[in-house]
Amino acid sequence: MKSIWSKTCNIEKQPALNGDIEADVAVIGGGMAGILAAYQLEQAGVHTVLLEAERIGGGQTKNTTAKITSQHGMFCHTFIEKKGKETAKLYVQANQAAVEEYRRIIGKEQIPCDLRVTDSYVYSRNEEKLKKETESARELGIDASFERQIEIPVPCAGAVRFPGQAEFHPLKFIEGLAGKLNIYENTPVKEVERNRIRTAGGTVLAGKIIFATHFPFVNFPGMYFARMHQECSYVLALEQAGILNGMYIGDGEDKLSFRQYDRYILLGGQGHRTGENREGGRYAKLQEQAEALYPDCRVAAYWSAQDCITADKIPFIGRYAPDRPDWLVASGFQKWGMSSSMISAMLLRDLVCGIDNPYSAVFDPSRFSAEEVPQIMRDTGKAVKGLTKRFFHIPDETAAALEREQGAIVDTPQGKAGVYKTEAGELFQVDIVCPHLGCELSWNPDEKTWDCPCHGSRFDYKGNLLEGPAQEGIDKEEKQ
Ligand code: FES
Repeated sequence: MKSIWSKTCNIEKQPALNGDIEADVAVIGGGMAGILAAYQLEQAGVHTVLLEAERIGGGQTKNTTAKITSQHGMFCHTFIEKKGKETAKLYVQANQAAVEEYRRIIGKEQIPCDLRVTDSYVYSRNEEKLKKETESARELGIDASFERQIEIPVPCAGAVRFPGQAEFHPLKFIEGLAGKLNIYENTPVKEVERNRIRTAGGTVLAGKIIFATHFPFVNFPGMYFARMHQECSYVLALEQAGILNGMYIGDGEDKLSFRQYDRYILLGGQGHRTGENREGGRYAKLQEQAEALYPDCRVAAYWSAQDCITADKIPFIGRYAPDRPDWLVASGFQKWGMSSSMISAMLLRDLVCGIDNPYSAVFDPSRFSAEEVPQIMRDTGKAVKGLTKRFFHIPDETAAALEREQGAIVDTPQGKAGVYKTEAGELFQVDIVCPHLGCELSWNPDEKTWDCPCHGSRFDYKGNLLEGPAQEGIDKEEKQ
């Protein structure tokens, strides 16, 4: 299940850390946010090293749809209502500045990353809502327009158009910057203590440390696990589906996302909270939707993405926690990882360099507003449910009854366990206790992974860690 980006770009390997080093700034995490932060800091004359547990771009960056846009769904009207016009304006301006900054860097560094400047649209069946959103976007300074006709064959009353947005190949972009940076790959961080980072290959002593690891993995301080949850969504690369000029996202339940890359339309959808996909069939449903829209299409690639969602739908970018002045964080990018990565790179660079940034208060991780409380309560409730399930959930399967390519929680003489039966009939058994904070894992039949409903850690059927905040794999027993 390689994404179209992984299939079409193979970034050169970087060395692992071997010895003790010092730097002004150490960035942990080699996704788009980490790479851009390191780049912006180096450009500002700050000696920066980047530590990546595996390969750069190998986490969520390879799974994005790589839309670079300030149009984050149907959000302007809601943001003005909830956050006030000034904050909403700053949020939009920051994202628009991010779009421009990509164009500037790609031009300056001459990066061949298939950049395409295009318009972004959010479509809906609700005309009144579309008109209100257009008006709100214009109030925030966007040259938005209401379009009754759009080029995708979805039932809708039209769309809100944001002109001058962009899309590109995210891995080719990272490849274009990597040679300018001090990167250590295959260097997982074991421990961070104040200004010292310990890895298997050596220690890094840094003036500032940036956590750009998708989900921050240090639980205390910060407690990001209690302030975000993760969601999965699925993408198909469709051939023989025609050519799109713009990029699109729907509004409401069951929304779809569209963009063009080369000869493919990338169709995204079927999102759900991580750990809540027991029935599976997401790819099949998305394919049904694709065939209804484009009867001649063929699926050339498919993959899934995972996003961190904050309660107020604004990323956390800034100081990690009040009692860790030298730790900085970039996380909670919702579905908008490209523009949020660039905002975090510029904002964190300014924080390190002591420069005022007009957007820092909007993204400040220590912000709090009462309207987030219901979402935090819901997330906490899910986490409590995930924890108690471990004790009260009775398995309804036995290993012997599993079909091939099926996974389930089963009873064993030692207690409950997660078991997957491969196509060849081999059984792989793992502990179903998440090593992050102990919730019971759920089987995801679409991805053949064990997923945590509490904070979204994911593991393959052999127990290997795929996604944090957990920092290690789950206990496993030898295959039978
Ligand atoms: Fe937190 Fe599993 S990810 S308990």
